[in-house]
Amino acid sequence: MTKYRIIGGNRLSGDLFVQGSKNAALPILVASILSASKCELHNVPKIEDVKETINILKVIGCQVEFDGSVLDIDATGELIHQVPDVCAQKMRSSILFAGALLARVGKAEIALPGGCEIGKRAIDLHVAGLKALGADVKEENGKLYCTTNGLKGTHIKLHTKSVGATENLILAAVLAEGQTIIENAACEPEVSDLIMFLNKMGAKISGAGVGTLIINGVKKLHPAHHSIAADRIVAGTYLIATAMTGGIVTLHNVNPRELGALTTVLSEMGSVVHGGNKCITIAGPERLKAVSKIKTDIFPHFPTDLQPQITAALAAANGTSEIIETIFENRYAHCLELNKMGANINVSADKRVFVIQGRDKLAGCEVTATDLRCGASLVLAGLVAEGETTVEGIEFVKRGYVDMAEDLRQLGANVVS
Ligand code: EPZ
Repeated sequence: MTKYRIIGGNRLSGDLFVQGSKNAALPILVASILSASKCELHNVPKIEDVKETINILKVIGCQVEFDGSVLDIDATGELIHQVPDVCAQKMRSSILFAGALLARVGKAEIALPGGCEIGKRAIDLHVAGLKALGADVKEENGKLYCTTNGLKGTHIKLHTKSVGATENLILAAVLAEGQTIIENAACEPEVSDLIMFLNKMGAKISGAGVGTLIINGVKKLHPAHHSIAADRIVAGTYLIATAMTGGIVTLHNVNPRELGALTTVLSEMGSVVHGGNKCITIAGPERLKAVSKIKTDIFPHFPTDLQPQITAALAAANGTSEIIETIFENRYAHCLELNKMGANINVSADKRVFVIQGRDKLAGCEVTATDLRCGASLVLAGLVAEGETTVEGIEFVKRGYVDMAEDLRQLGANVVS
């Protein structure tokens, strides 16, 4: 396991350019196979999940060149419809190849994405939607076998707003015959970035960000260039880190409007936040104040992907706070690790409600990350803990952060990687 060693107590200060978005890059890389030609993507984050997706693209027959920021994909050739099990099981977003391969080659074979620490991660909405579009989808021996004689537009109403299901059905519908309407579609900025890329390729998709998508199928898509939007969760992570350490930092290449729910909370906690044109500045107080209640929800509400990080901030804040996690049924492992550092977090029996009694000080010790944002949470706690904190399991953090240690060192933190 890779680890970070963090010596707490430094205030963060300075400027940082925020990386491209993991959760925008992954669906956009998959979407590139729909052009059956060459696409050029900029600001692609050099993270493990991107490398994994590139592996899949190469195995199914694409040529891919990646210099760490610009990524060229040539999907001109004949594509293979089987996604390697080992890749699919490693990364949940590989399920998006089902919709894209059905649209491109009329079939797809892919291992079911395993559950993970934060929840069972069902795919019933993906399967029901692909069937509604005219695919035959069978689950056997832990794999999905999908075929179609031609996808046809239809009217789909998702019972839950799901980012992945929305993206999968968009990928399947853009080349389908006729019109597809997706009701109760996810409105996350990453879905909008995917839609922008597909429309640049000649797709006809309207309704991004409003909850109902209208997709008029086209016969063919053409090559496109696109720059991946900034990662709002990485930006939010560093805003929280700055607030926790009482520092002052400006993040560049971000969209402040995507972080409204977080900056409202950080202001309530005593920070001063200023949003500029593609940048955001935050100044943290001597000590953060507790917040009576934070409830995670779909965009534009407080994002579940920043819940572990704000939990770390509240663990050292002045007063008692409550967090309600409404999206994932198991996103609480960070609470147990934070308690090893002297935090006082009570997790409800259903693992959805955390009551956090803020402590004056957290104590550095050895803790272990079990998923991506849990790892981010523990690193942030190490920034303010007394003494040295060792965070094991940094391979999880590298799935979503290009180099969190280097970013934090650039802002003055004492992190050894
Ligand atoms: C995406 O996951 C993100 N991942 C997650 O980010 C993020 O937490 C999540 O959206 C919510 O915003 C990527 O974009 C690669 P969902 P996804 O489908 O698509 C249930 C991170 O840290 N559901 O919106 O898998 C599901 O169980 C990661 O960067 C069904 O019931 O999330 C969950 O409770 C973690 N049936 C809820 O919907 C389905 O068919 C939301 O899941 C699909 C989902």
